[in-house]
Amino acid sequence: MEITITPAVTPQSGTLVLCVGDGGRLGPEARDLDRTLDGRISAAMAAWDKAGAKGKLFDIPAPSGTELKRIILAGLGAAGDINDTGMEALGANLVDGLNKRRDGQATVLLPERRGRFDSAHMAAHLAFGARLQSYRFDRYRTRLSDDKKPTLQSLDIALKGPASARRHFDRLSAIADGVFLTRDVVSEPPNVLYPESYAERLLDLRKDGCKVQVLDETALRKLGMHSLLGVAQGSARPGRVVIMEWHGAAKTQAPLAFIGKGVTFDTGGISLKPGPGMDMMKWDMGGSGTVVGLMRALARRKAKVNAVGIVGLVENMPDGNAQRPGDIVSSMSGQTIEILNTDAEGRLVLCDVLTYAQQKYKPALMVDLATLTGAILVALGAPYAGLFSNDDRLSGQLSRAGEAVEERVWRLPLSDAYDREIDSKVADVKNIAANRNAGSIVAAQFLQRFVDKGVPWAHLDIAAVAWSDKARPTVPSGATGWGVRLLDRLVADNYEK
Ligand code: BES
Ligand code: MN
Ligand code: ZN
Repeated sequence: MEITITPAVTPQSGTLVLCVGDGGRLGPEARDLDRTLDGRISAAMAAWDKAGAKGKLFDIPAPSGTELKRIILAGLGAAGDINDTGMEALGANLVDGLNKRRDGQATVLLPERRGRFDSAHMAAHLAFGARLQSYRFDRYRTRLSDDKKPTLQSLDIALKGPASARRHFDRLSAIADGVFLTRDVVSEPPNVLYPESYAERLLDLRKDGCKVQVLDETALRKLGMHSLLGVAQGSARPGRVVIMEWHGAAKTQAPLAFIGKGVTFDTGGISLKPGPGMDMMKWDMGGSGTVVGLMRALARRKAKVNAVGIVGLVENMPDGNAQRPGDIVSSMSGQTIEILNTDAEGRLVLCDVLTYAQQKYKPALMVDLATLTGAILVALGAPYAGLFSNDDRLSGQLSRAGEAVEERVWRLPLSDAYDREIDSKVADVKNIAANRNAGSIVAAQFLQRFVDKGVPWAHLDIAAVAWSDKARPTVPSGATGWGVRLLDRLVADNYEK
């Protein structure tokens, strides 16, 4: 689907979408149109229960005296109620509604101003929402019939002086590119996307201006990443670590580090998971997916920041060479780890990547993302991802960014009382506690043991949000791309000059 921001013209064919506020009063542009259409629009407003309500659509089919297929009135809601995510939801509802009506082309007309938003701001966010909604992962649907395919080919958003709206949409479109990359890699099945093929695909980020480096098993062994390698060793497919650098600020500026769990399939290993539902574990690379999508977004919008994304890619399988419960491995940090459950593998991957990030980059801060625990589904469900942090400031920044883009995080505690639960009698630390209590916190405590003093760090447990069975506006069902917008916003609001 093509989204174009065009100069204001009244279209003569296709579908016309007229954005109107609530309260039943038409703006000057709509009034002009209403006059040329013999009052058809004001009549429709009168017939529309809750006229102009936010996000709602109302149809005027085949208006006589025009070649238009239909006019759709789209509600902007109350002037004081307008916000970015509301406009995005409206754009998404429109795409959905136009496809349901089997329309091929539509032109959207916006009022010059609504509340504190001018038409350029409204247009950019409406276009962004439309674009996010248009995502499909159809690659393997070879027999999809035409009536199951979306009809909408072009959405034109018309306004006076489109230049500033275009600039704004270009920036948001870069973020959408990132979200789409995340959705793509998370959607790929595990026979197609495994550590080597995933690493290969990430070389694409070079075209965006990122520096990309792939570490193979020889390199990982040399670095001492035996914790990560211990997880990888049960699979026929070797592990990889991929490092993506984006340089958008002065060389002297320490980078922000984003770290992702990339378990391309998690069987549990020798601590094998039950069969039913195991296919869900193809999304266990969701944290890495968000990191790579973020790197694309930052690079494509030329963010004025230095950032490094590092993803640990492994497949957790139970072959004859797999690690056993009882094994002790030495991590890159030097700490030894007693493996008591091979299914608590995400933390074993992340700990070595955290060490690498700190040793190699001396980052200004670290944020890691992981589909780390089933317990976070129990604690928070999908409305909030779990946030764990050693830093109140970074926590606050993440919470505010999450509210702004509606990818929300809720902070859970870290404390010595939980940390004690992972003291081992035979090694420096063990990878699970003696019971299932506070499972998400215990996992975060494990990660914190690999965070150096003075490094602001946040861990996001995204096990409940990386994938969704239910579609929401701007987020079709399946891979959500959760976190790209959140972290892009974190960077934009706090770390760019
Ligand atoms: N990848 C899983 C966590 C997960 C579970 C993500 C359900 C999405 C949906 C992780 O590797 C795992 O298996 N965690 C264990 C930890 C336990 C063994 C301490 C879990 O949550 O059960
Ligand atoms: Mn697991
Ligand atoms: Zn896992």
